[in-house]
Amino acid sequence: MDAPVGEILITEEKIRERVAQLGKEISRDYKGKIPVLVNILKGGIIFLSDLVREMEVLHEIDFMSVSSYNSQTESTGVVRILADLSINIEGRDVIIVEDIVDSGLTLDYIRHILQARRPKSLRICTLLDKRARREVAVPLDYVGFEIPDAFVIGYGLDYVQKYRNLPYVAVLKAND
Ligand code: IMP
Ligand code: MG
Repeated sequence: MDAPVGEILITEEKIRERVAQLGKEISRDYKGKIPVLVNILKGGIIFLSDLVREMEVLHEIDFMSVSSYNSQTESTGVVRILADLSINIEGRDVIIVEDIVDSGLTLDYIRHILQARRPKSLRICTLLDKRARREVAVPLDYVGFEIPDAFVIGYGLDYVQKYRNLPYVAVLKAND
């Protein structure tokens, strides 16, 4: 596989360390509770699967699939639910687990949808925060890494559905 990998922004080892810290931090914050981790498919699955194995509190996981009507690399903010949660989150402590927050439009939309279902609490955990591109303010409770304004692939993140399996986060190499 000849992946279009540019600069490696976050190595496999750095990801492992940070995910372990996040798992501990979340476990501390949710001691005695049983949160529902809501993963947004598909980019967040690798992060979720590593994160839950670092968690020390009981929890449940559930999935939601949305399509953000994006062009190849840009989000439009118009979100369609392709697959909804299977758990009723009313009265539950919910944590949205995302791969990356870019413009924030997708997450802002999802956050409002979930909030309307009256969870007891709703927090957001994202592996990557591309803050320079934010168009709507979204409160992020747990952030793995802040990254610069570049299109990245790997560790769940795709370019036209590929390269999610790369163990690191790298900048997509421009065509030369
Ligand atoms: P947002 O609505 O602009 O915050 O981003 C929506 C979605 O676009 C994210 O959940 C990702 O799935 C995708 N996305 C944004 N930036 C990147 C990137 O750099 N690489 C891969 N996917 C991205
Ligand atoms: Mg995503």
